[in-house]
Amino acid sequence: MRLVIIANRLPLKASRENNEYSFSKSEGGLATGLDSLNLDLEKIWIGWPGIDVKYEEDKKLITNRLREYNFHPVFLSKRQIHEFYEGYSNSKLWPLCHYFYALVKYDNKHWNAYKEVNSLFLSKAAEVIRKDDIIWVQDYHLMLLPQMIRELRVGVSIGYFHHIPFPSYELFRVLPERADILKGLLGCDLIGFHTHEYMRHFISASERVLDLSYSLDKVWTDNREVYVDTYPMGINYQKFNDAILDPNIQRLAEELRLNYIDKKLILSVDRLDYSKGIINRLKGYASFLKNNPEYHGKISLTMIIVPSRDTVESYADLKTKVDQTIGAINGQYSKINWTPVNYFYHSFSFEELVAMYYVADIALVTPLRDGMNLVAKEYVASKRDLSGVLILSEMAGASIELMDAILINPNEIQEIEDSILKAIKMPEEEKVKSMKRMQAVVSRQTIEKWAGDFITELTTIGSRNKELNKKMLYPQKENIIKSRYEKADSRLILLDYDGTLMAFKSRPEDAYPDEYLLGLLTRLSEDKKNNVVISSGRDHNTLEQWFGRLNIGLAAEHGAFYKENGEWVENVHKETWDEEILEIFRKVSDKTPRSSLEIKETALVWHFRKVDPWLAAMRSQQLVNALIAPCTRHNLHIVKGNKIIEVKYPDCTKGSEVNRLLALKSYDFIMAIGDDTTDEDMFNALPPGSVSIKIGNMSEAANFNMLKQTDVTTFLERLMA
Ligand code: UDP
Ligand code: G6P
Repeated sequence: MRLVIIANRLPLKASRENNEYSFSKSEGGLATGLDSLNLDLEKIWIGWPGIDVKYEEDKKLITNRLREYNFHPVFLSKRQIHEFYEGYSNSKLWPLCHYFYALVKYDNKHWNAYKEVNSLFLSKAAEVIRKDDIIWVQDYHLMLLPQMIRELRVGVSIGYFHHIPFPSYELFRVLPERADILKGLLGCDLIGFHTHEYMRHFISASERVLDLSYSLDKVWTDNREVYVDTYPMGINYQKFNDAILDPNIQRLAEELRLNYIDKKLILSVDRLDYSKGIINRLKGYASFLKNNPEYHGKISLTMIIVPSRDTVESYADLKTKVDQTIGAINGQYSKINWTPVNYFYHSFSFEELVAMYYVADIALVTPLRDGMNLVAKEYVASKRDLSGVLILSEMAGASIELMDAILINPNEIQEIEDSILKAIKMPEEEKVKSMKRMQAVVSRQTIEKWAGDFITELTTIGSRNKELNKKMLYPQKENIIKSRYEKADSRLILLDYDGTLMAFKSRPEDAYPDEYLLGLLTRLSEDKKNNVVISSGRDHNTLEQWFGRLNIGLAAEHGAFYKENGEWVENVHKETWDEEILEIFRKVSDKTPRSSLEIKETALVWHFRKVDPWLAAMRSQQLVNALIAPCTRHNLHIVKGNKIIEVKYPDCTKGSEVNRLLALKSYDFIMAIGDDTTDEDMFNALPPGSVSIKIGNMSEAANFNMLKQTDVTTFLERLMA
């Protein structure tokens, strides 16, 4: 088995000088984290080498060089870099996911380029991937790719990991392309996030934007279950923890220590990014210097800022602002022998970085939003001697695991200032205790564990989806049913109505049968061998009005009424509805905009198809809670259906209707088609050898599954053809 990682950026980036190409390590959590991953799987990368390459022979040269590492480059043109990478990815998705709403740029060209580049990655994937590969798509640049791959290679296992925050629905909904993005991701078998909050936001968006149902960690889409879960990304703990044993790193650390003798060293490391809270950090530090003059000359803030996306306007603006703010602080407080802020605007080697981590007394990590933040974990792991204090923003995903850090809200400058003082004054034993606890977490949740957990889960889900897929009604299976149908002399065809013969509408009364459906049912019932029965939860007056003219059997309110020899028969003992129960229904209905109450003779139904899912879930629970006692007293059943809550007399179900029909006559072909909870009763009551077809998500009770409601009529047409 091979693992194919598809990410916008390869772990190596190419650069060109005097027509010569050289390669260096890419920065950023995704590339550094995944590159340090050691698994018992062959690892293959597909990604962009980070440079615009004009000539074909240069592309060939880079391709050949990268092939040595199992890296397959995708080359982007200058325009694509501008519109896809700087544009849609980093001027729209990045600010949106990081809650920088005001920085979001809307440009339709960017969206077109995003689709185009996702297709470009698909072409490369099509060249590289094999049948048994595990495909792992990474991050927000490639959110359309999972579905594209799914369409190309139906059975392949596809995972996606979102390395940045997934915003709340309130924010996500402003994205004009929200539905396409979600559909793209739902091509996966498994979608991973760093924290449960991002996971919750994603599920809520799928439910609200695409009207998909979910249960716990599963979203139902077409013929598959898409699993969604949290996998907090880790680091190669041992590599950082053991680093100081390397004599070169030890020497570097000693040299650094000499520079900071008698001084507390505060360290910060990040890409140049407005999400990292760099300006707030500087303001907090400036405020600390202003209010604590006794620390002048005794403290130093060393900032390593790695250049990033500097062709994007908001990043270029930030660079100017950072330069100015540092200049102002150093201008105001520097002394001949002391510079309050040491600023590096370039990347460091692993050895230099880890020596810095080892020596730093305090790490000041202040993102305003951050998917995870690996720097915080790297700092903790590097502290082999258990020294040091981590100040960490609660807006970083890492804060969920690193609760022993000094947690701050970086929007409040005062909190940053206070946390610096607190870190300086923290007693040694408290520092050691916190560091030990944090190391216990970071050493357990390593990068290997992160990837291992994800891949194991993905493989299991992939096989489960393949199993479920076997129930799908593909043409060959359809042919088997058709030949049994043709051979039979006496057939019972049981059809549910809403969601089976007709699509759901916002208002139930609008879902009436059209001429085509009536014609189809007429043709089906004209075959003398067929007994066609519509078994529905609808009331008998509605069924009579819609289908009374046809020569078919009808069962209303789940068999509480049935039509036999042209006459409706009432099959249930009913009384007038209890006023207390009616009142409970009315109250919930009145309090819930877009919901409605249906009062039938043998059932009360609260419909909430168009209600906000969160509100619907809460009101459903309230309704059920309120109904339990009176329904128990009156011996009534509470049934949760597809966007409905129903109270009904227990005497009749769609299953009892099947039993009634089977007692009247024997058939040599029995088929039932339905989509909802109540149809499960119908499936369960069928004798062995019957054909049961569930529409939409899978059912244990049915032996076949059909994707969409619209497939039902075409299937019936083919059966008769
Ligand atoms: N990093 C690096 N070179 C540097 C500074 C940082 O490779 O000079 C790495 C750092 O070790 C970390 C990554 O960049 O692994 C930053 O990841 P993080 O999750 O903190 O933030 P991101 O850049 O992904 O937003
Ligand atoms: C974050 C993103 C990554 C990205 C990295 C560096 O970690 O989640 O997808 O690769 O930043 O950004 P860059 O734009 O240089 O690839």
